[in-house]
Amino acid sequence: MLRGIDLTIGRAEFTALIGPSGSGKSTLLNLIGLLDRPSAGHVLLGGRRTRDLTDDDLTRLRGEELGFIFQFHHLIPSLTAVENVMLPLALRRGRIHDKDREEARRVLRAVGLEGRGRARPRELSGGQQQRVAVARALIGKPSLVLADEPTGNLDTESSQEVFSLFRTLHRAHDTAFLLVTHDEALANACDRALVLVDGRIVEDRLRHASPR
Ligand SMILES: Nc1ncnc2c1ncn2[C@@H]1O[C@H](COP(=O)(O)OP(=O)(O)OP(=O)(O)O)[C@@H](O)[C@H]1O
Ligand SMILES: [Mg+2]
Repeated sequence: MLRGIDLTIGRAEFTALIGPSGSGKSTLLNLIGLLDRPSAGHVLLGGRRTRDLTDDDLTRLRGEELGFIFQFHHLIPSLTAVENVMLPLALRRGRIHDKDREEARRVLRAVGLEGRGRARPRELSGGQQQRVAVARALIGKPSLVLADEPTGNLDTESSQEVFSLFRTLHRAHDTAFLLVTHDEALANACDRALVLVDGRIVEDRLRHASPR
């Protein structure tokens, strides 16, 4: 249950969303991600109201504008890394293009997994699996990536690796990130931190933006 949320996430912003368990972080992310519809109020994406859009319109908009990363990577075990990464494009177009496979290899290289394209998820470490999930979220060139505890399931080292990958991608492509985390250090390394308590934003801490 969220209450009185009035929030704007700017273009290319790198924001953490923190708060106690049950405070509504995932609920808010699902609303922003157009996975749920609010019972009251509006969600605007790129200045566009989304309430009157059909589910098909929302799905298309999600594919064009948003990338999702979750705590558990949700990779498909029977598909290779390249196939997992190209899946959003294949689903969007309803068919597989050779150039999508090329693009998937390129994004895998960008997340440091060059040469692992043929590996299945179980042949990769937790951190590598999460990097495949990051590549999958980024292949559609989203303007905003929504990540729900993306490092919650990783050891400290892999967690830091994935986080610095986010920062690199943010710098390189001006992709906005909204990152749910329980990790205070990670939150402090973001440019902005929102604190949610009982469904309300009780704090909005702005740090000087990192040099880009
Ligand atoms: N589908 C749902 N229907 C009704 N209530 C829900 C639903 N999903 C979550 N809630 C409730 O909404 C509140 C916020 O849940 P939410 O999952 O957003 O919390 P959270 O901040 O992500 O917590 P955590 O850190 O444990 O993931 C909780 O009280 C939860 O019980
Ligand atoms: Mg949650």
